[in-house]
Amino acid sequence: MRLDIISIFPEYFAPLDVSLIGKARERGTLDVRVHQLRDWAHDVHKTVDDTPYGGGPGMVMKPEVWGEAIDAVIGDGTPRMIVPTPSGRPFTQELAQELAEEPWLLFACGRYEGIDSRVVAEYATRLRVDEVGIGDYVLAGGEVAVLVMVEAIGRLLPGVLGNAQSAVDDSFAPGSMRNLVEGPVYTKPPVWRGHEVPAVLLSGHHGKIARWRRDEALRRTVANRPELAAALDVDALDKHDRKLLEELSFRVGPEDVAN
Ligand SMILES: C[S@@+](CC[C@H](N)C(=O)[O-])C[C@H]1O[C@@H](n2cnc3c(N)ncnc32)[C@H](O)[C@@H]1O
Repeated sequence: MRLDIISIFPEYFAPLDVSLIGKARERGTLDVRVHQLRDWAHDVHKTVDDTPYGGGPGMVMKPEVWGEAIDAVIGDGTPRMIVPTPSGRPFTQELAQELAEEPWLLFACGRYEGIDSRVVAEYATRLRVDEVGIGDYVLAGGEVAVLVMVEAIGRLLPGVLGNAQSAVDDSFAPGSMRNLVEGPVYTKPPVWRGHEVPAVLLSGHHGKIARWRRDEALRRTVANRPELAAALDVDALDKHDRKLLEELSFRVGPEDVAN
């Protein structure tokens, strides 16, 4: 997969040299190219921003410099373009999976009050463009949001995770973990500072372990992410799931699954 990232702070992307993503780059699974937006600014100060039309605080990134940069980076190619913004569609595991199937992504990192909106309008005429938010809070720039997205997408590429099953068991994974967060995890020793690992995990009984993990995922989702638990697919819940939700006095969707 090819990833182009345009930013006024290319140094933000140094972490992409380490760990799983760094190894994927070394192996050639990921071809990451980071570009300095100011290389396409022509005045002596390398200006990339100007005051907003309509007044108000802050500055807006200029369309001309973004247009020149994107044209130069993509040539005649048609990457899928991602513009991080708090006002975008939410970045989810499902979207990470969808983006992991693309051959080429282009990320445009905004700063200040964001990028002049005509840039998205212009490129949406020839590329698939998504404005994407990584959460309901405001960062100073798109760089950290892009790091988050690249890591979430990159670990889904074939061969990047040591054990491909990890992604299947993760929180939010499509399938049985859809709308569920993962439960607690443990390693050796069996007792640490008086805290014991749940006995079922030492039993070697795969069926019971799977059931326990599902129960814990349900418990944790109800406790920490009730809005996700409420959106569980009632038809995908088995008798045991329903009983547990009843014990937790939790209703899924408009119906009370306890009844
Ligand atoms: C200070 S923010 C601009 C926020 C904008 N005035 C608003 O309220 O929507 C500057 C840049 O940070 C990035 N950014 C900030 N929060 C983000 C988020 N939650 N998700 C994705 N990108 C974000 C975007 O690239 C944005 O253009």
